[in-house]
Amino acid sequence: MELCSVQTRKNVHNYLFKGEKFLNLGNPGFLLFYSLFLTMIFTFYMLHFSISPIVNFTTNSKEDDAARPRNSLYMIQPQLLIDNNTSDCDLFNGSWVRNQQKSSLYYTNFSCPTIPHSKNCLLNGRQDEEFMHWKWKPDKCTIPIFNPKTFLAFVKGKTMAFIGDSLARNHMESLLCLLSSEETPMDIYKDAEDKFRTWIFPRYNFTLMVLRTEFLVFATERVINGSFTGGFDLHLDKLNGNWTQHLPNIDYVIFSDGHWFLRPNYLYENDNLIGCIYCGEAGVQHLGPGYAIRRAFQAAFKYINECEECSGIVVLLRTFSAGQFENGAWNEGGFCNRTRPFAREEVKIGDQDWEFRNIQTEEVERARKDGKKIGNNFEIMDVTRAMLMRADGHPGAYWGNKWMKGFSDCIHWCLPGPIDTWNEFLLEIIRRKFST
Ligand SMILES: *[C@@H]1O[C@H](CO)[C@@H](O)[C@H](O)[C@H]1NC(C)=O
Ligand SMILES: *[C@@H]1O[C@H](CO)[C@@H](O)[C@H](O)[C@H]1NC(C)=O
Ligand SMILES: *[C@@H]1O[C@H](CO)[C@@H](O)[C@H](O)[C@H]1NC(C)=O
Ligand SMILES: *[C@@H]1O[C@H](CO)[C@@H](O)[C@H](O)[C@H]1NC(C)=O
Ligand SMILES: *[C@@H]1O[C@H](CO)[C@@H](O)[C@H](O)[C@H]1NC(C)=O
Ligand SMILES: *[C@@H]1O[C@H](CO)[C@@H](O)[C@H](O)[C@H]1NC(C)=O
Ligand SMILES: *[C@@H]1O[C@H](CO)[C@@H](O)[C@H](O)[C@H]1NC(C)=O
Ligand SMILES: *[C@@H]1O[C@H](CO)[C@@H](O)[C@H](O)[C@H]1NC(C)=O
Repeated sequence: MELCSVQTRKNVHNYLFKGEKFLNLGNPGFLLFYSLFLTMIFTFYMLHFSISPIVNFTTNSKEDDAARPRNSLYMIQPQLLIDNNTSDCDLFNGSWVRNQQKSSLYYTNFSCPTIPHSKNCLLNGRQDEEFMHWKWKPDKCTIPIFNPKTFLAFVKGKTMAFIGDSLARNHMESLLCLLSSEETPMDIYKDAEDKFRTWIFPRYNFTLMVLRTEFLVFATERVINGSFTGGFDLHLDKLNGNWTQHLPNIDYVIFSDGHWFLRPNYLYENDNLIGCIYCGEAGVQHLGPGYAIRRAFQAAFKYINECEECSGIVVLLRTFSAGQFENGAWNEGGFCNRTRPFAREEVKIGDQDWEFRNIQTEEVERARKDGKKIGNNFEIMDVTRAMLMRADGHPGAYWGNKWMKGFSDCIHWCLPGPIDTWNEFLLEIIRRKFST
């Protein structure tokens, strides 16, 4: 344990050091991208940190123990679904309303044994609890309460995979908690780095996977003079085969990604350098993160629509979920300590977050047309606007990291918390479009 702690400390030091190195690049284009660099460094830090297998040693080992019998504190009574005709209602245009029910929590840190330590905000000392009691209300309809029985009945015998970065994992962890009141999941596979993980719900023969891929496309980290730089070489016309090889066995995919594209990455097509993202290098064209995000999703969707064994697959894209630091970047004392959601009018639409969201929705529309011919289904899960209203839902200072006291996580989401809404969306999309 002592050894592990020492390693963790070293790990942290390395990443911080990398951050400083970026700040000393001293090239002329640098100042221009200063704030984006900070975002990028943080993103690198947070997203990487939360996947590091070494770091797991500092967390409560109980969180991996899914076999623990669940606590009977579970409070939600499955309710009758009021199945109004909502097929013309835009699920993603609405506002957050205070939940009036007394016991409105789907699960607690007692009833769900699989909440990861870094998302277990109450355990890590968060005092305010208001953030757990808001429900998303589309303007023209109501999303039913998440009923795990209904969900599992729809996906019986199927395989569902969350494919993306650590926010895809965060989404899957929420679903795991929502479903574990109905059946305790079995943890059946975990790779050495905990990037790929598989759970099954034996009674429903339902398989739930998370496949981590930060870029979807083939990427290798840049090494300069023997040290990792935090930037990547992205081959925009080649996918990472580690996740694509699983596609033929998957019935439902929930794709996401975006944050890692904000780093100083170099972009290749046909093995030729075509440009970069914030590299600030003379002679290398800055193509921007949006360009690379679009090309990565295009490559993934093209592959799926040309894959014969994948025919009939349901593909959802969960749109970009922005980082929400206030008063500075992550390493400038930036924080997120709000305790209530924003109203619709308080949220600014049109920033880079919104550009990424628009690119993602455009690519889903394009893929939908091509996919129809071979029976594939593409849908959007457009969470961007709803989550911009939830700056109160991040772990903030309460992500339980001993080595980084004073730094906030304003990217991931507390469990329970507003990210549970992503699974209300998921169930509602399946119910509307794919349950027959
Ligand atoms: C539901 O709404 C759609 C679109 O408005 C309409 O075509 C359909 O007939 C309605 N179904 C029922 C059962 O009312
Ligand atoms: C959302 O709904 C409101 C009122 O129902 C409407 O005015 C607005 O145009 C809608 N926005 C979008 C993006 O659909
Ligand atoms: C759950 O959260 C409470 C604070 O609300 C904390 O005291 C308790 O230790 C946590 N329990 C677990 C099992 O995480
Ligand atoms: C369904 O429609 C009825 C009126 O037609 C309304 O009272 C009820 O609140 C609606 N239910 C939901 C879940 O939107
Ligand atoms: C479970 O589902 C898989 C398909 O995902 C199927 O091949 C298998 O036969 C099912 N097993 C049982 C026991 O129903
Ligand atoms: C790599 O190391 C060599 C020799 O120490 C040095 O001349 C060169 O500038 C270094 N390159 C970079 C990109 O730091
Ligand atoms: C695929 O997985 C292997 C084993 O975990 C790993 O070594 C390799 O780097 C991965 N490939 C890519 C492109 O990520
Ligand atoms: C958030 O933190 C800032 C700076 O520490 C403080 O001024 C503010 O009162 C805090 N807000 C809440 C709601 O705690």
